[in-house]
Amino acid sequence: MDIIKVGVAGLGFIGPAHIEALRRIPGIKVVAVSEHTEELARIKAEQLGVETFHGSIENLLKENIDAVHLCTPNNLHFEMARKALEAGKHVVCEKPLATTIDEGKELLELANKKGLIHAVHFNIRYYPLVRQMKVMREKGELGEIYSIVGSYLQDWLFYATDYNWRLEPELSGKSKAVADIGSHLMDLLEYISGLKITEVMADFNTIHPTRKKPLKPVETFSGKMLKPEDYADVPISTEDYATVMLRFNNGNKGVITVSQVDAGRKNRLSIELSGSKETYAWCSESPNEMWIGKRDIANRILMRDPSLFHQESTSIVSFPGGHNEGFPDTSKQMFSEVYDAIRKGTMEGAKFPTFEDGLRELILCERIMESNEKQRWVKVE
Ligand SMILES: NC(=O)c1ccc[n+]([C@@H]2O[C@H](COP(=O)([O-])OP(=O)(O)OC[C@H]3O[C@@H](n4cnc5c(N)ncnc54)[C@H](O)[C@@H]3O)[C@@H](O)[C@H]2O)c1
Repeated sequence: MDIIKVGVAGLGFIGPAHIEALRRIPGIKVVAVSEHTEELARIKAEQLGVETFHGSIENLLKENIDAVHLCTPNNLHFEMARKALEAGKHVVCEKPLATTIDEGKELLELANKKGLIHAVHFNIRYYPLVRQMKVMREKGELGEIYSIVGSYLQDWLFYATDYNWRLEPELSGKSKAVADIGSHLMDLLEYISGLKITEVMADFNTIHPTRKKPLKPVETFSGKMLKPEDYADVPISTEDYATVMLRFNNGNKGVITVSQVDAGRKNRLSIELSGSKETYAWCSESPNEMWIGKRDIANRILMRDPSLFHQESTSIVSFPGGHNEGFPDTSKQMFSEVYDAIRKGTMEGAKFPTFEDGLRELILCERIMESNEKQRWVKVE
């Protein structure tokens, strides 16, 4: 098997998770990494056991690599992805794909023009029970979808002293909670249900209009403690919380709530699809079981067990029932499909989330922001 050589840009929280997942797939080698300075790249490369490091994407792209993973703050995704595609590299980009619809469109067009493989890391699709719910719905077991109710709740921005580049629109984009975690939730609900969101009505809240920004850099989720003199007061323009009512192309409705200030909810995506035959409920904090609700007989819990799954869902399950699979496994399963496509040299039949899915989330986010600003329903093209 030929070794596919990979470069990874951005080594904060999620970059190392990409590297770990890639190392679990045969025939792939992470040969080089980059950070925003060469010194930081050197330190991280040593920690991660990667030999070659660079202080810029331009130098990373000069390496003999086939594919690049972009794990930097959001504002850098567009330029980095564009440069990578121009250099002939396949691209796996973190979400959001870019910060505007126009940028997303340009990247999709360029990737298609160059005939390169493109993916956006909507990894939550790769929890085995998510695929199983999708297959059950495709086989008609859910029936007609009556409603979808979802939430994505976190608490890492609970205190006014919690601070991160995601709070700065120039680095993160104009939306925070919706773009950061709402995008995962909306990607998931369209993916499982096969429905499209046609109209949105949003209401945002900024719980902390002023936050205390650390005067020294702190990595996401690192949990480091600072003293009062280490902070500066900064005004916050983006949402910590949002509720969005949804209309779907089957004429039915739904609602999602996202919050990053919800004490005790660490990283909890919860989704409930109610159909004319049964209801499915699943939560990312207990991802190895799903609830199946019935009107006339007892409700059931389906545990993640490949021997109980539809055959179409088993390709993304590595372990037998009772041997729990979790967050790190989702990226491994997704990248396995992406690198199969890279080996075959075609996007045809791709099941993984592509730049088209990344663009879809940019469109939904922009319409949701517009709806919140105008305080009215907005159509999604
Ligand atoms: N799919 C998921 O589950 C998931 C989870 C977390 C983050 N993300 C996404 O991943 C991206 C990174 O998030 P994170 O939580 O890892 O952030 P982070 O702040 O922990 O890490 C970002 C890293 O990028 C580095 N960086 C900044 N400028 C750079 C440059 N010019 N070149 C190379 N590296 C540079 C930073 O120094 C830092 O190490 C974001 O777009 C975020 O939305 C996705």
